[in-house]
Amino acid sequence: MKTIDVETLRMWLDEGRPVTVLDVRPAAEREEWAIPGSIHVDAYDALQVHDPGALAGVALPEDRPVVTVCAAGRTSLIAAELLQARGIQARSLEGGMKAWSLAWNVAEVPLAGSQARVIQVRRTGKGCLSYLIGDGNTAVVIDASLDPHIYLDLAHRYGWRIERVLDTHIHADHLSRSRQLAQVSGATLLLPDQTRISFPFIPIHDGDRLEIGSATLTALRTPGHTPESTCYLLDQRVLLTGDTLFLTGVGRPDLAADADEVSHRASELYTSLRTLLALPPETIVLPGHTATSVAFDSDPIASTLADIEEQVEVIHTAREVFIQQILARIPPTPPNYERIVKLNEEGVLPAYDLTELEAGANRCAIS
Ligand SMILES: [Fe+2]
Repeated sequence: MKTIDVETLRMWLDEGRPVTVLDVRPAAEREEWAIPGSIHVDAYDALQVHDPGALAGVALPEDRPVVTVCAAGRTSLIAAELLQARGIQARSLEGGMKAWSLAWNVAEVPLAGSQARVIQVRRTGKGCLSYLIGDGNTAVVIDASLDPHIYLDLAHRYGWRIERVLDTHIHADHLSRSRQLAQVSGATLLLPDQTRISFPFIPIHDGDRLEIGSATLTALRTPGHTPESTCYLLDQRVLLTGDTLFLTGVGRPDLAADADEVSHRASELYTSLRTLLALPPETIVLPGHTATSVAFDSDPIASTLADIEEQVEVIHTAREVFIQQILARIPPTPPNYERIVKLNEEGVLPAYDLTELEAGANRCAIS
């Protein structure tokens, strides 16, 4: 066997099985996303021309299998063959980093003072963070970005039934799986109130409260990143911020907006951030994205409001300075975002390979 699929490698890493992941992409490609713990050899050009010495200088531990990785799973096949010829047990990752976009892992967020448990579900190769929050025998999922069965299996493991599915906003960097999850699980779909979505949902308004067992989730409307962006506060202790506030930055206000609207949204974002910063400094922030590959370390991506206030200087400035700085730092738009937004508004999950559409680093943050 010369290949390994994403799910098998994902499980190996999750179980801590000894494996060497050898990334053979050009160095520049590795900068954006890499498999946590992987080693790198810049052998791409040599492999492309089938240079038999392409991997000659690479020292590999002999006591474990090697998985070779490239962008789409073709050059890595050449690498695996070369290693096999050296007697090394090597396989190529099917579909490469593009397919790895759907790999995931979880981390439980430790909570004091709440009966609820919060499980952070991370797309390690894409940076999308979703949340399964449960108490008693009931659970909600926020910002589902993976196949519904992953959430159903996780909920089953904890003895929860997913009763509600929520999004923080209409996403632009990935296809929301929330509608599909609600359909498969029989859960109710709740989305921030707006008129862009063309399928049925229950609208969420500022201040709405949802019970999850003995816990309470309160909606805080925080326009800026998008007009409908909404954060969710769990038991006055944990703040799920979507793409409004990240651990090292704030949400970009420009996607699916015309030029006039961008500075208006930046100003709204400023006001929304004031609302969030008025919460107790020890509030735990759980963002909707991270910009780096997520390790298989069970370590949640989380911070306190106090720490974020220290990290993100731009949120301390006056409104006009904030707007100026945000507009000056807007990163390139994510690939395919207009198509993704449209599909999310229509609630359509195409049958073709979604990793093609979702390819590329997420670029929702300004830091
Ligand atoms: Fe977003």
